[in-house]
Amino acid sequence: MRIARDLPTLRAEVARLGRLALVPTMGALHEGHLSLLAAARREGEAVAASIFVNPLQFGPQEDFARYPRDEAGDLAKLERAGCDLVWMPSVEVMYPPGRATTIEVGGPAEGWEGEARPGHFRGVATVCAKLFLQTGAAVAVFGEKDWQQLQVIRRMVTDLDLPVRIVGCPTVREADGLALSSRNRFLSAEERARAPALHAVLRRVAGELAAGALVEAALAAARTDLAAQGFAVDYLALVAPETLRPAATLPGRLIAAARLGSVRLLDNIAAP
Ligand code: PAF
Repeated sequence: MRIARDLPTLRAEVARLGRLALVPTMGALHEGHLSLLAAARREGEAVAASIFVNPLQFGPQEDFARYPRDEAGDLAKLERAGCDLVWMPSVEVMYPPGRATTIEVGGPAEGWEGEARPGHFRGVATVCAKLFLQTGAAVAVFGEKDWQQLQVIRRMVTDLDLPVRIVGCPTVREADGLALSSRNRFLSAEERARAPALHAVLRRVAGELAAGALVEAALAAARTDLAAQGFAVDYLALVAPETLRPAATLPGRLIAAARLGSVRLLDNIAAP
């Protein structure tokens, strides 16, 4: 497994490896990321992963400084997963002095996380466009756990004619349903015990909607239920899967963000 930390090294490795399937990450790798690596491997190209904690996608009050970092652990996991190339730029390499260009996606980026975290998707879109251009990846693999992010990236790739195919992969969960996330490690034992309720409530709502319940009534009851279990609910909504616009009928995607203590949990499921 080769490691590139600057652009000349990256370009030399890309020239050597040929077509790449890229897994963009911010490190602190878990089984969810490893499932993306496995999906990248199935694409039949050489496999690359990027590790870059992207300051541009964190707001001033957010957890950039405390975002978990574990370079040695991550590299060992990537090596075991059969990764061919790791792209690990510093902030200075990714964002040269005087940088003045960002990518602003409208449409699916506009509500939900876009509203709760102003500038977040500008940062995500900018770094992903750069990662695609830097690596020339033929395929890039993302988790469905960040459903809105996946739609924002698809929109950007279509709108800018970027020559990369985006592959989405199902969310990997703990046995009790909690979606894997690098931030789960910040849950206290008591919060960790309560956290799976978010997924359980989404599943329950999906079942109720499939059985004909009124959308707004089912969503309102679910929000109340989560609040009663100690979650501070940012949103819980039924949306059109690609545009993320609020939906009044099935099929759709149920998306939710809720805080437990200092940890903001995101989850989503299909509502067929
Ligand atoms: O999902 C993530 O880990 C990040 O948002 C991504 C896609 C690597 C961009 O920094």
